[in-house]
Parts: sequence; structure tokens; C-alpha cells
Amino acid sequence: MQVNENPWDQRFASVQGFMYGKAPNAWIASQLPHLLKGASVLAVADGEGRNSVWLAQQGYRAHNWDYSSVGLTKTQALAQDAGVQLVTRQLDLIHDALPEETFDALVASFFHVPKSAQALCWQRLFARLKPGGILVVQVFDESQLPLTSGGPKSLDLLYNLSSWQSWLQHWQVEVCELAQVKLDEGSHHQGLAQVINIKAVKPIEEHP
Ligand SMILES: C[S@@+](CC[C@H](N)C(=O)[O-])C[C@H]1O[C@@H](n2cnc3c(N)ncnc32)[C@H](O)[C@@H]1O
Repeated sequence: MQVNENPWDQRFASVQGFMYGKAPNAWIASQLPHLLKGASVLAVADGEGRNSVWLAQQGYRAHNWDYSSVGLTKTQALAQDAGVQLVTRQLDLIHDALPEETFDALVASFFHVPKSAQALCWQRLFARLKPGGILVVQVFDESQLPLTSGGPKSLDLLYNLSSWQSWLQHWQVEVCELAQVKLDEGSHHQGLAQVINIKAVKPIEEHP
């Protein structure tokens, strides 16, 4: 496995097994509604593929867009072990042009980018969701910073609730809340954590 300069390649290559385990994120698994078999679902920045492989196992057309080639190689290995197929694309979600395709649902767990890039990065991803499509996200809140259960050690990479409330102001928001949860995800997410949970439906009509 070739390891380049990408810090996530180095992290994913340095662990035995899977950093966050092989099971899907609990929030995503509990909140994704029953979609029609064959619905297309994009797992944003799904790293080693725990969410996208689970999505494929549910009968969905699953996609993992992530910039770590090591993560995507591990995703395909996990899919092969599970006997499912999915689509992986190596993309920098901040800088690269995104493919034109659109999805019935978009899920993400713990995709963290610098504050200066957050709004634009998520707007570009929201554009890949069909009108009426479902968004399910769990990320670390800024109040996670002093905790040791996982997540970035930089305030700049964490989120706050007011950002999400403004990005989703025209959406049908079912959940947009700060929550304390007990993470039990592989070796790198363990213990009490401060997260933002999102479940929302994209509006049918465009808003400027
Ligand atoms: C904390 S890991 C979470 C992985 C996965 N979502 C999970 O919960 O198991 C963060 C992921 O974001 C990806 N990532 C970070 N910045 C990215 C960017 N600019 N473009 C694409 N992927 C990125 C990393 O490669 C990594 O897979």
C-alpha cells in the first residue's frame, strides 16, 4: 500500500485494522430512513468505508468520495469481504470539481475541514443532493476540543451549531442539535463526546 503526503493516508496505513471500526456510525444507521432499494446514497469522506459498505449491504447504490487513496483501498477490501459493490472516487472535497451526479441521500460522519472552507464545502455537497433528498450528519462540536474521545485537536476544524442552523435555514430540519453521546467506534472514537447531530430534508424549491 503506497502512502503519500496525505495525513489521512498515513493515519489509515498506520493502524492495525480499521480506525473507527467496521460497523456504521450509530447516528447514521439509526436515522437513515428506509429508502427504495437501489436508491443512491453518497457517504461523504467515508475514509475506510464503514458507512458506505453498510449502505451497500442495505441494497443502496453506495458511493464513498474521499481524498485518501489508502482509505478508499480499505473501503474496497471491506466491501469485497462483505460481498457488496460500491463506487469509490478519490476527490479533494474542498478543491476538486465534484462530479455532476446527484443522490437520494447524503450521509457523513466526522468530516472536518477548516472553518474558512466549511460553508462552501458543504454548499457544494448539498448541490449533489436531489431536491427532497435526505441529509444525515454527525460531526464533532467545538466543545469536543478538551475531550479525549476523538476528533481534531484544533478549534479551527470543529463545527458550531449556529453554522449548521444557518446553512440549513431553508431546509425541513428534523434534528439539528448538540448532543453528548458515548462513542464506541474502533480504537479512535471511544468515550463521551460532544457532537452535532443533523437530519434534514433538502427543499424542493431553490433558494438564493
Ligand atoms: C475522521 S475521518 C472519518 C472517516 C469516516 N467518515 C468515518 O466516520 O469512519 C475523516 C475523513 O475525512 C477525509 N477528508 C478530510 N479532508 C478531506 C478533503 N478535503 N477531501 C476529501 N476527504 C477529506 C479523510 O480522508 C478521512 O477519511
